[in-house]
Amino acid sequence: MLEIQFVKQKRTVKVEAGETIREAAIRNKLSVYPHIFKILNCRGRGLCHSCAVEVVSGNTEPRNEVEGQQLAGKLTKNPKLRLACQVKVSDNLVVKTHV
Ligand code: FES
Repeated sequence: MLEIQFVKQKRTVKVEAGETIREAAIRNKLSVYPHIFKILNCRGRGLCHSCAVEVVSGNTEPRNEVEGQQLAGKLTKNPKLRLACQVKVSDNLVVKTHV
């Protein structure tokens, strides 16, 4: 069993390998979405980029094509950005939401 520490929420949650950061957050009643995007988001399809998080530490798979497209232009400012709905957890992670 793996863990994700959500820095802003000051919570650490257990995660099954292969679960996405978004799925783990929702299952534990945490939101990865800021403001109105809690309602207006693409529900994990990789279309809205409102689930962007910063992976502070931990190993992750390389960004997939969807993430590359959605985060283009933002990565120069913060190269640790990922889409919570696209990252399948395979290591213990420390994550900052609402970035
Ligand atoms: S939920 Fe829309 S891109 Fe992740």
